Amino acid sequence: MKQLLDTETPSREELERILDTTEAMLEISQRDIKKVPTLRGRTVINMFLEPSTRTRVSFEIAAKRLSADAINVTASGSSLSKAETLSDMARNLSAMQADVLVVRDRNAGVPAMLARHLSIPVINAGDGNHEHPTQALLDAFTIRQAFGNIEGRVVSIIGDVAHSRVARSNIHALTKLGAEVRIAGPPTMIPVGVEQFGVKPCTSIDEALDGAHVVMMLRIQMERLEGALFPSVREYASTWGLSRERLRLARPDAVVLHPGPVNRGVEIQSEVADAEPSRILDQVTNGVATRMAVLYLLTGDSQ
Ligand code: CP
Repeated sequence: MKQLLDTETPSREELERILDTTEAMLEISQRDIKKVPTLRGRTVINMFLEPSTRTRVSFEIAAKRLSADAINVTASGSSLSKAETLSDMARNLSAMQADVLVVRDRNAGVPAMLARHLSIPVINAGDGNHEHPTQALLDAFTIRQAFGNIEGRVVSIIGDVAHSRVARSNIHALTKLGAEVRIAGPPTMIPVGVEQFGVKPCTSIDEALDGAHVVMMLRIQMERLEGALFPSVREYASTWGLSRERLRLARPDAVVLHPGPVNRGVEIQSEVADAEPSRILDQVTNGVATRMAVLYLLTGDSQ
């Protein structure tokens, strides 16, 4: 692998290699001294042109735990405000002998466009409603951690699938890794022809939850909605939101995932988000290890 632009392109073996490497990186994160010299002398540029808490901070922590130098670039304060093009800015950053560019942008396709202009690896940290590959990898890792494997597990992805890069990356990754993926949400938020991606569309949240191992709730992507796609937040919460009572339809050992940020009381009730079997904060912990694995595999001695 020379880039990580999506989860559609890598093979199952490549995805499994990242998950296996994440295991080792998690062990480093659990030590008293959470630092190894693996990427000493490497420079990681985190170019986040859209807001982020989890992904941006975890990439920075991941780089530092591997002893790389991490440089953060945001839109405000950069020369983008002086009409420099994105590709020019990326080429200039790369010319400072950076070893890898991590990029988040509100427009789908930006990481792939930059990868065509640069000779260093590019990692997609979320592009519009296209893909968020490291989120799907940390989700897959969290499922494997909970159940020991992913093959045959029933994963229900519920909510605003159409506008969710997390859903798209998870659908590619989890079907490739052998999970049975169901999706459910308001018809206006389910992509037409989604069956072609090997998932099972469900017409109600109850149908999606029935016997599920993993319940993955999605945030409504308010920033990407054009016009009202559901009557009201109250109706959305009662029709598609996850409560403790509803969760009883899933398997007794089911786990609940959410990529964050959480809209409490909309797609998920706090009573579910903050208690067993929520794995939401484990996902965040695993996100650091996953990003350490990706940085190592793309820029370390394994290359
Ligand atoms: N899950 C996720 O991408 O969160 P951030 O937007 O905070 O990075």
